[in-house]
Amino acid sequence: MSAANTGKQRAAAAALAEVERGSVIGVGTGSTVNFFIDALAAERDLVRAAVSSSEASTARLRSHGIEVMDLNHAGSLDLYVDGADEATRDRYLVKGGGAALTREKIVAAASRRFVCIVDDSKLVDVLGRFPLPIEVIPMARSYVARELVARGGQPVWRENCTTDNGNQILDVHGLVILDPPSLERDLNQIAGVVTVGLFAQRPADLLVIGNENGVTVV
Ligand code: A5P
Repeated sequence: MSAANTGKQRAAAAALAEVERGSVIGVGTGSTVNFFIDALAAERDLVRAAVSSSEASTARLRSHGIEVMDLNHAGSLDLYVDGADEATRDRYLVKGGGAALTREKIVAAASRRFVCIVDDSKLVDVLGRFPLPIEVIPMARSYVARELVARGGQPVWRENCTTDNGNQILDVHGLVILDPPSLERDLNQIAGVVTVGLFAQRPADLLVIGNENGVTVV
């Protein structure tokens, strides 16, 4: 297994300790979360059910026999576990590489604690090296792109990608995100933006960073 995958697997395994037996938890999307889902399945009956942030995670959870609930029926969740594309030690995140950012932001918002699991290659001092994903209403794509250029970004349309909500993604290159909460607030105001892949106004509560030797928790 590659060093990155070992780090992902270790972080995912460490997050199991945060799960309260018999609870309904939120489950994110991506290769790190896939390790978490597999670890969850190995601990029989640890969770009662899960609320999933994507069709892909729903399918994986169900394939392991884990019940998936609609968020509208689950109420507030105690815990949300998800990965990230970039993370700082302040627990600010860039997410959306897997195009699931809108549902991820909703489930994170509905959860009391957000535990983010990453391998150490995701840790950065300043967010922005990974292009910032922004989900947009299809008819607003060009307008939003012009607004992003006016703010110093270089948006690239992720072609052949339709989100689970029927929308499109712009990946914004060239941003140096020195103040994540204020950029998130600003970009949220652009008409046609559905979700900004910055998780700063609601950062992770716990960042579990895995590497070949073990895990560090921030
Ligand atoms: C999905 O839209 C993303 O937010 C993922 O959480 C992110 O891309 C992390 O994915 P990996 O765990 O595959 O790196």
